[in-house]
Amino acid sequence: MPEISGAIDAIPITLSYHQQTKHHLNRYARSLGYLDWASQPDPFRTYQGASRVELPLAANGLTTSYADLYIPVTIQAQPLDLESIAILFELALGLSAWKEFQGNRWALRCNPSSGNLHPTEGYAIVPPVPHLRAGVYHYVSRDHCLEKRCFLQQRGEVELARALPADSFLVGLSSIHWREAWKYGERAFRYCQHDAGHAMAAVRYAAAALGWSALLLDAFSDDEVAALLGLDRAADFAGIDPHDREHPDALILVSARPVSTAPRVLPVATIRAGQWAGQANQLSASHVDWGVIDDVAKATWKPATAWPGPVQYPPLPPVSAACHAPAATLIRQRRSCLALDGRTSITAESFYRMLDHLLPRSGVPPWDLLFWPPQLHAGIFVHRVAGLDPGLYVLERDRAIHDRLRACLRPTFLWEQRADCLKHLPLYCLMRGNLERPARIVSCHQEIASDGAFSLGMIADFSPTIRRQGAWWYRRLFWEAGVLGQVLYLEAEAAGIRSTGIGCFFDDSFHELLGLTGDEFQDLYHFTVGQPLDDQRLMTLPPYAHLRRTKTV
Ligand SMILES: Cc1cc2nc3c(=O)[nH]c(=O)nc-3n(C[C@H](O)[C@H](O)[C@H](O)COP(=O)(O)O)c2cc1C
Repeated sequence: MPEISGAIDAIPITLSYHQQTKHHLNRYARSLGYLDWASQPDPFRTYQGASRVELPLAANGLTTSYADLYIPVTIQAQPLDLESIAILFELALGLSAWKEFQGNRWALRCNPSSGNLHPTEGYAIVPPVPHLRAGVYHYVSRDHCLEKRCFLQQRGEVELARALPADSFLVGLSSIHWREAWKYGERAFRYCQHDAGHAMAAVRYAAAALGWSALLLDAFSDDEVAALLGLDRAADFAGIDPHDREHPDALILVSARPVSTAPRVLPVATIRAGQWAGQANQLSASHVDWGVIDDVAKATWKPATAWPGPVQYPPLPPVSAACHAPAATLIRQRRSCLALDGRTSITAESFYRMLDHLLPRSGVPPWDLLFWPPQLHAGIFVHRVAGLDPGLYVLERDRAIHDRLRACLRPTFLWEQRADCLKHLPLYCLMRGNLERPARIVSCHQEIASDGAFSLGMIADFSPTIRRQGAWWYRRLFWEAGVLGQVLYLEAEAAGIRSTGIGCFFDDSFHELLGLTGDEFQDLYHFTVGQPLDDQRLMTLPPYAHLRRTKTV
């Protein structure tokens, strides 16, 4: 798989993929242009023949409030056992509801996904914990169960337990690119990365609700991640189309204790030699080959790298609490809005609080998951924030970017700061005026981008980062966008309104509005926040009524 990684052409391949998959006002990125329902991918991966561990539905028992999530020291850590691992998966990747319309039923999950296609798969690699044998497990959200993919002999159990800090285990994430490519064609690789970032943040928030820490283990290579999750086991994918295979994304160390250092070595060979079970299911009857996705997947395949250590951010005042509802309730009620009312304003205080949550703080979720300083900033269309002039604003998530960003944006911009803004929030007004129309146009004419309180585009420090760090950083930039998105989703929910990720946007139209030329900075993801209008035609059903499972082990 990784022949291109590290090769001289990995960076040009990656930059050219990005260029090629831009939507333009007069031309969308290449896709079928219609939905081939006969080949719609199964949203649930299963491994037939793998034994299953049913998980209890126990998240209702958690008392952690949403506000507590940002002050981890206040949360009593739950013991690491089967029930708490079940809660982690329920709140991170579990179902949040079923929707029904005209006889069609589809599941929603705690982690959002472009087109609700859910390319992200979740895994647990666990040493022996109470009520759960050591091994590698695959999570099936529909059935809220773990499929046992790999059984470890005693020596393997000991090796794994030794490699990990006490009271910890690993969550693995992978992507099935085809699930997104089925609908979105060539641009799908971007959406898989957004979704992976959302899932990472969802894991971090779920861990925080349990009083746990979580850290992305980003020194390991994709080869190692694939081996640990069993994704490179050709025999277990024999008989299915190669498009239905999974691509390794991330390993996250989840611990019931605070962790600041990461394991440098994992027992890859021992796990590879474990006793594996299960055959992956075929997801689609037929597939369309989008070659550029395989090319960029290879070009951004991650090599092993040195552990960079945690980032120390400049100290900031604590974020203020918007909501004291139980975290588990808020996480499970998170939804995308389908339409916004085009009327309701939010207060400036609420606006500043949401933006403040986007600034990284050491030891504060979800930012303590990542080991890199912010590479993404926000260009914000303010439509309805009481006391603020409508117009275009910019939020610099790292003050160090100011001079470079300013030099690249339109020279006529105002760069005004408001006296009532939080002192530590680097928010600048660039231009005043009603920008509802341009906001809607740059987000592929979607009204949700103009009918809310505000919408934004995430501006990445793009080609310099990729050229300096390597092509595999392309994926990390989108992951950061997904983490930012997950913060906005929960913050909007906490403020009693809603938000939606917007993957469909005209890249260069937004760049032009900002005055950006070249690829030093690139827009990677849009978001909108506002007062939702409910679609009364859709019926909402509980997530796990079909399981009839007890709440405790
Ligand atoms: C990366 C990403 C891109 C998305 N792009 C759009 C979009 O362009 N327009 C839209 O209406 N919704 C968009 N969504 C929202 C999804 O359609 C939504 O997450 C999905 O239907 C699941 O619903 P839920 O978020 O309520 O669980 C996007 C979501 C994600 C995560």
